[in-house]
Amino acid sequence: MTILVADNDQNLAASLKQRRVELGKLIEHPVILWSGNAISRNFVANTFPFRASSHFLYFAGLPLINAAIRLDRGKLELFMDNPPPQATLWHGETPQREDIGATIGADCVYPLAELSAKTDHAATIAVQDWKTYQQQCQLLNRSIAFANQIEGIDLELAQAIVKLRSHHDDLALQELRQAAAVSVEAHLAGMQATLQAKTEAQIRGAMEGVILAHNMHCAYNSIVTVHGEVLHNESYHHQLEPQDLLLADVGAETSNGWAADITRTWSVSGKFTSTQKDIYEIVLAAHDRCIAQIYPGVEYQDIHLLAAQVIAEGLVDLGILKGNPEDLVAMDAHALFFPHGIGHLLGLDVHDMEDLGDLAGYEPGRTRSDRFGLGYLRLNRPLEPGMLVTIEPGFYQVPAILNNPDFRTKYQDVVNWERLAMFQDVRGIRIEDDVLVTNSGAEVLTAELPTQVKDIENLVLSLRD
Ligand code: GLY
Ligand code: MN
Ligand code: MN
Repeated sequence: MTILVADNDQNLAASLKQRRVELGKLIEHPVILWSGNAISRNFVANTFPFRASSHFLYFAGLPLINAAIRLDRGKLELFMDNPPPQATLWHGETPQREDIGATIGADCVYPLAELSAKTDHAATIAVQDWKTYQQQCQLLNRSIAFANQIEGIDLELAQAIVKLRSHHDDLALQELRQAAAVSVEAHLAGMQATLQAKTEAQIRGAMEGVILAHNMHCAYNSIVTVHGEVLHNESYHHQLEPQDLLLADVGAETSNGWAADITRTWSVSGKFTSTQKDIYEIVLAAHDRCIAQIYPGVEYQDIHLLAAQVIAEGLVDLGILKGNPEDLVAMDAHALFFPHGIGHLLGLDVHDMEDLGDLAGYEPGRTRSDRFGLGYLRLNRPLEPGMLVTIEPGFYQVPAILNNPDFRTKYQDVVNWERLAMFQDVRGIRIEDDVLVTNSGAEVLTAELPTQVKDIENLVLSLRD
């Protein structure tokens, strides 16, 4: 377990204290947050990697296993058991709860069993692991709803947490910048490993190796694939062919849980074909135009629609779509090729706070659209300083969409299907960066990683012997 995240323990404790004080101003009820437990794989002692609940991490700062915190108007009580003496044989010396309590600025520390006497009128958020979830319900003596069903004092808590976690403080930004820097390094390694690699798995290994070497983990399951049209493709077995594009969506998270989320697409041979370049430039134009429009007050949905417009314009220019780009966006024709949203909030979760349903992503009073071109938009709020969002336009030829008989009928006259067939070597392209909203505009935390075709080609070819 990592104990230090800030310059020193006092910085960490002070920053965490500030978060708890802010929470105390927003909710009158006591709050109990559980960290969760490691899930066993095949026998009890062999567990899947542990990931603490993000809400717990936000206020407790450290990835403690099977711990709980009780927050009451800025005061922090930490509940966790010290390991039994014989555990040192297997796990070595581990910090005692008193040491951990001092590190995170707890006012009191107790064994976990003492939590049961302090649960009255407490608000909470459901954790993801089932065992701890059952303990939560049992101790609070009530059911605890998930996502869009959250209600009552838990909803008050969730709304307060959204207010805090959607604007990153200095401690968070310090970690987010570290995650971004390591993720950039991982992508550079992936590009430079490509000419020597025979399979997707080898490139994945090169990328994740960088993340592990920094003592970080992946923030989500990596996507490293020559089938980028499968949006969340998590298989890595394909052989690499020189005519393939490789789409890599790989991000690190720091040991205290703060994430980065980057996608780049490059050619396996090092050189884009002219058709691949044509489409790549359209996606890049959407990416650049969107980032240039990020500033406080701008509606994120307008950023999404700008991406749709730029993609529609580009596809009309290429002869793939027919008609007026604005009309094409209005009828969602762009979504045939760009079927997801332009991005999402980023923080302790890669899709930050999506365990709260759309509470974080959607401004109160707004709900998901049922339009084909808007329904997958994960964020629909005016942007504010301190928010970190991704910008990730893409172009995909998804057989399930392009061969869908209803879409074929609806969009028959606006797609030049013969022209589209000339772009068969473009299955999926996405370009994704992490953009911090500042007081005056935006800062791209992942800007060190090139996006231009020439730069990417040079990187892939840089280790050619
Ligand atoms: N890495 C998942 C996403 O970009 O949303
Ligand atoms: Mn993303
Ligand atoms: Mn991503």
